[in-house]
Amino acid sequence: MTPWGIRNRIKSALGRPKAERTAGYTLTLVLPDGSAHEVQAEERYTLVMASQSLETPIATGCPDGHCGNCAVDVLDERGLAAPTDAEAKLLREKAKPGQRLACHARISGSGARVRIHSVWSMESSRGA
Ligand code: FES
Repeated sequence: MTPWGIRNRIKSALGRPKAERTAGYTLTLVLPDGSAHEVQAEERYTLVMASQSLETPIATGCPDGHCGNCAVDVLDERGLAAPTDAEAKLLREKAKPGQRLACHARISGSGARVRIHSVWSMESSRGA
């Protein structure tokens, strides 16, 4: 299980007051094998957080958002908040045109569709 998965399990075990919950949005994540998966995410979740409901969530390469390994192709940008200054700087340095950094890109509505290049798997977590 990824660190985000552990975090989500702890959060769900502790529960959150209903007043803190926000409306869920729907987005589509296209995995490296071409399969498309609709997932639900709360406003302000990053794409990495949104992918935690998948069996193989988006792989990350750093704890502080500077490596660029989480770049995804944006197929439909509806529902994605504009890049922050920090993400825009990293996109210029680490990504190709049309990409966003999944650990930075935040959900602001429904409709986003992104193609993921790298996912977590049991094999990758074992270092194979
Ligand atoms: S995981 Fe390193 S920049 Fe996103």
